[in-house]
Amino acid sequence: MKVWYNGNVMDANECRISILDHGLLYGDGVFEGIRITGGRVFRLSDHLARLQRSARALGIELPYTLDETAAIVLQTAAAFGRDEAYIRLLLTRGVGELSLDPLSCEKPQLICIAAEIRMFPAATYSQGIRLMTASSRRPGVDVLDPQVKSLNYLNNVLAKREARLKGFDDALMLNQSGRVAEASGANIFAVIDGVLATPPAYEGALPGVTRATVLEARSHNNLPVSERPLTCYDLLAASEVFLSGNGAGLIPVYTLDDTVIGGGDRPVFEQAVLDYRDFSAAHGTPFAPYRAANLAVG
Ligand SMILES: Cc1ncc(COP(=O)(O)O)c(C=O)c1O
Repeated sequence: MKVWYNGNVMDANECRISILDHGLLYGDGVFEGIRITGGRVFRLSDHLARLQRSARALGIELPYTLDETAAIVLQTAAAFGRDEAYIRLLLTRGVGELSLDPLSCEKPQLICIAAEIRMFPAATYSQGIRLMTASSRRPGVDVLDPQVKSLNYLNNVLAKREARLKGFDDALMLNQSGRVAEASGANIFAVIDGVLATPPAYEGALPGVTRATVLEARSHNNLPVSERPLTCYDLLAASEVFLSGNGAGLIPVYTLDDTVIGGGDRPVFEQAVLDYRDFSAAHGTPFAPYRAANLAVG
């Protein structure tokens, strides 16, 4: 695992971060999770745009330009050197007083981690995962808008914990109205009467970069997609359900609350996997030039 911090790339165990960073004390910050496939960083500019939107929503200023931040990501990816990897980019409010006053934080801190990630066991990528409806709900936009990818993931963590303790792979999270929002760390899709449907962001879904890729690929193939509110009934009655995310990848859902979904065939999911592979092979920013140049940034 490699980490970029304060202008240097180092091994993770060499990185020292202040215990007074409000990212640690209060979850006061934002982040991105970015997949690296075939030596390319997936949709880097889209991730940085989302990081900037999340940061703006919390009043945190990015300490570097978007180009500089992209260079930091590529430099860290190059130092890690694996063609299949994962980037975790964090932006915290920075070091401040022990009290929660965000105005006591002098300057935001950027941290970039390059590592491996596995969210689900390998076998579940063909068999499908077992999903459980979490008893806790996604917060409403008047509490903490789920579109902000903040460092405060307790809501998701507790839903995942509940699901894992009960023997499930992941949690389905509903919004305040009881409609489907997303999984604990991934977006959700359902195939209903031949239409690929997913809840819109205002239903409590993070505007996922993988989600956008799936939707775009479908519309290129002239297959109908629909961003619309979904209920648990819609998922249970669907012919296919699957999740999407940079960490999760694309993964089918086998059961929801122990009810088997669909009849076993998953043609839409399989096509989505192929489309996603084609897209990520053809797009993305290669980090190889940074390996040679070993550019120092920040
Ligand atoms: C809560 C949540 N929803 C959805 C996603 C999927 O988003 P993306 O495809 O951008 O990784 C994530 C990814 O981390 C997430 O944490």
